[in-house]
Parts: sequence; structure tokens; C-alpha cells
Amino acid sequence: MPVINESRFWGWLMQLADLTEPGRPWTRRSFSTQHAEGRQWLATHMRALGLTVSTDACGNLIGRQEGTAPGAGTIMIGSHSDTVAGGGRFDGIAGVIAGLEVVAALNDFGTRLRCPLEIVDFLAEEPNEFGISCVGSRGMAGALDADMLARTNAVGVSLREGLRAVGADPDLLGVAVRHDIGAFFELHIEQGPVLETATREVGIVTHIVGIRRLAVTFKGQAAHAGTTPLDLRQDALVAAARFLIDLRQQIEDARRQSAFVIATVGEMYVLPNAPNVIPGEARLTVDLRSDVPAALDAWTEQIRELAERTSAGVGVHLSDYRVLSASLPTACTPALASALRQSADAHGFTHQDIVSGAGHDAAFVARVAPAAMLFVPSRGGLSHCAEEWTEPQALAKGIATLLGAVQRVDATDEVAYAKP
Ligand code: HGY
Ligand code: MN
Ligand code: MN
Repeated sequence: MPVINESRFWGWLMQLADLTEPGRPWTRRSFSTQHAEGRQWLATHMRALGLTVSTDACGNLIGRQEGTAPGAGTIMIGSHSDTVAGGGRFDGIAGVIAGLEVVAALNDFGTRLRCPLEIVDFLAEEPNEFGISCVGSRGMAGALDADMLARTNAVGVSLREGLRAVGADPDLLGVAVRHDIGAFFELHIEQGPVLETATREVGIVTHIVGIRRLAVTFKGQAAHAGTTPLDLRQDALVAAARFLIDLRQQIEDARRQSAFVIATVGEMYVLPNAPNVIPGEARLTVDLRSDVPAALDAWTEQIRELAERTSAGVGVHLSDYRVLSASLPTACTPALASALRQSADAHGFTHQDIVSGAGHDAAFVARVAPAAMLFVPSRGGLSHCAEEWTEPQALAKGIATLLGAVQRVDATDEVAYAKP
């Protein structure tokens, strides 16, 4: 049977990690020169494995190998090679490299699947300068709309132009929507502490949380820090600070409720951001997540009410409150999750079911195809930081599990054949 080569895939991971912003490990932001270099590296290695390489209309890099059974549905393995700023070497990247290693192991063994096999690097999974995450997988699912394409970055470049700059064709997005995928798998690091704490080697994802990102702007009045009396101040940063603390308290109070709900503010801009000027404006993004759609709706309203109340209390006003992006809670396909469990069992790997608190490209691909995810442990549960780490042996077990599941699916008709 095909065998995973640990030193091979680990070498690939570390080579890709070298393509990072100098002095800011590890940073390969979508639409950046480092990301373009990383794509060249991936395309070169896809070709070396005998894959036909293309970029689809929504900017996904795809390596494809035809199967032996005409008309069979495509088996797709994918994730993302872009990182957050100051992120790690594994988030997303491990899943793309895992796909390359699956192809390499099948090649070594001299076997070709019945189904066509595609390895995909999805464009811009992480939130980026255009404020839209999962750009490529949204496109593949037909969920990239005109409003999103019109979003501009800080220098007025639109996402439409950004897509063209990476070789995509936003005028042909309709063509990029896929209907031929028989099964999609995404291997990903857990990015949390559950598997390590439970000493489980593989996580079989049952659900992926829905994510909503909300733009909130408090508008006050910039004024002199020394001459403006307290009772005349309209301090936007004081409003933002009170909003943050109250939001955290509301989330803590909600922990005893049934639905999983979490909210984070990790991005804020203070204007004019000068030590001797009372902040006239504070712009922040709320990252809201839940596995229950109704909770996402209720909290979107609850957070708006909190922002309004806080604004009134500080004497500023809420000048902007918008949903920047939204993904729905997504259930993984049971038949594919079973194939992953059977593969882990066949290898003797310990495993458990797990809900993903992180968003993933699989949540969009699941709109057009059967989709499943598996996790490998993250040391200390850390991710989205330079300390992100997964042991080579742990990743090898994940890739072996993935390969076994792909072979199982390839051998069965009901999943592997494309639905008309
Ligand atoms: O934010 C997320 O959940 C993912 O890592 N992009
Ligand atoms: Mn991430
Ligand atoms: Mn990721």
C-alpha cells in the first residue's frame, strides 16, 4: 500500500515557510509578493508530481490528475497557503502539502485512482485587505457576489482588480462554480487544545462554526488633549473600550447557554491615533462565531444594540454597523467522515469527533460537494502566531489517515460519482 514519506512532506513544509515577509515570520499574506512566490513554488511541485496545473476564475491554484474511470466525480484535497500577519507555518499550508504528499505516495506506489484527483490551494482564506475571507472557496461555491468584488482596500484597489492581479478572471466567476466534485477533504491543524489534551492523534470534524464579521465605527470629535474639559469630550476610543469590556461580559454570561457563541475584537483603528489628540473615531471588527444560525442572527442584533447604547452613554454616535462577511455553520458529510474514521482505525490511530471553532474553506466547498475535514494536534493549542507547531509524526498520521480515506472513497460508487 502507498506509504507517506515524512522527510519529504516535512521538507516541503519548511521550504514553503521560508517564503515569508522578511523579519516577520511567518507572514505570507494573500495578494502579496510572498504569496505569489509561494504559488510558484506550489505550481512547480505540482508539475513535478505529474499534475496539470491551472488557476481557476476565482484565483484557486489547482493541480489535477485524471482517473481511470471515465465520468467519475473528482476527489479534491485542498486548503490555503496564505497566512495571517505574524502567523504560523501550518495553518492551511499543512493541508495543501498533505495533498501533494498523497499524490507523491500514490505515484511511488505506481497506482492511479479511478476518480480524477485535484489538489487545491484556495485563494485568500484569511481575512485580508478587502475584508473578505475564503475568497477562492466562496468563488468555487458561487458565493462571491458583485458587492464583494467591489470592496476596496486602503488604497482603493477593488477585490475584482486584486483577483485579476493574481491571474483570476472575475468576469468568469460563473464558470468557476464546480458541480463535478464527488468528495472534498481538508486536512488542517486543530488550532486549539482539544486533541493534545485528550491525547488523540486525529480529529474527525463533524461541524464547522459559522462566522460573521461585523464592522463597528464609533464617531466622536477629535480635539486637543490638554485644553478640552472631560465633560465636553466626545472620545471615540472610550466608547470602543467600554463596548469591548461589555461585549466580553455578555459573552461570558452566555457561556452557560446551549449554543456555542464566541466574539472577539482583534482589529481596531483609532483616528487620528496621536498622543495629544482625543480620538475622533474608532473603527473595529467583531469576529462572531456560533454553530447555531439563529444565535448568529440574535447576537448580530444584540451587538448592534450594545454599540448604540455605549455610543449614547459616551456622547458619540455609531456611524457604521455592517456585516462584512458571513459563513453559515456547516455539517461535514457523514459518509466521508466515516471513511476518515475507518482509515484512522485501520492505522490504529486514536481519534475523536470534534467541532471546528475555526472557519475553513471546506465550509464553502460543502455548499457544492460532499465535504469532510480532519485535524491534527496543535502544540499548546496555539495558532495564528509564530509559536504554531505540529510534530512531523503527528502530521504524518493525519496524512496517512487522509490517504486511506481517499482510497476508500475512490473504491466506492455512491460517493465518488458526480451527482448530475
Ligand atoms: O479565522 C479562522 O477561523 C480561520 O483561521 N481563517
Ligand atoms: Mn487561519
Ligand atoms: Mn486555516
